[in-house]
Amino acid sequence: MKEQKITTTYEVYPNLEALPAEARFLMQKAIAAREQAYAPYSKFKVGAAVALENGVIVIGSNQENAAYPTGLCAERVAVFSAGANHPGVTITQIAITAAASDYELSEPVTSCGACRQALLEYEHNQDSLIEIFFMGASGTVVKTKSVANLLPLNFNSSYL
Ligand code: THU
Repeated sequence: MKEQKITTTYEVYPNLEALPAEARFLMQKAIAAREQAYAPYSKFKVGAAVALENGVIVIGSNQENAAYPTGLCAERVAVFSAGANHPGVTITQIAITAAASDYELSEPVTSCGACRQALLEYEHNQDSLIEIFFMGASGTVVKTKSVANLLPLNFNSSYL
């Protein structure tokens, strides 16, 4: 038996203003998208903005449903929209922000496992990595340079 170790790397920015201009702009798009979320059940709004290499930004927000499991996270709404409307166009960055209605969410919220898997497929299908930025309603912003950093030992199409 041999024990293996997996490490991951991420960067922490003290606040939104500390981000490079391009990422700050993208996060502002995610914040605007977040405000349009349809989250009457959880009252937890999430916004995502996907930057494409051609300069287009595709946004998404969580869309809930009275039949709870039918709803979809902001990340998948955004990335599936990018895939549907701009097929084959490389994704460069994704910004994600979450806010709760009854308390100040001042730390980054990272994507659920299903969204990590969905995002990974797009990174896997292109020849460059996707940078991801996470933020709460305020506070620090976490950046990682690749979706794969969020999903060690991942399953992908290379196995099929
Ligand atoms: N949600 C997202 O939009 N993204 C995530 O990565 C985690 C959770 C949404 C789903 C649901 O509408 C609400 O947040 C509470 O779970």
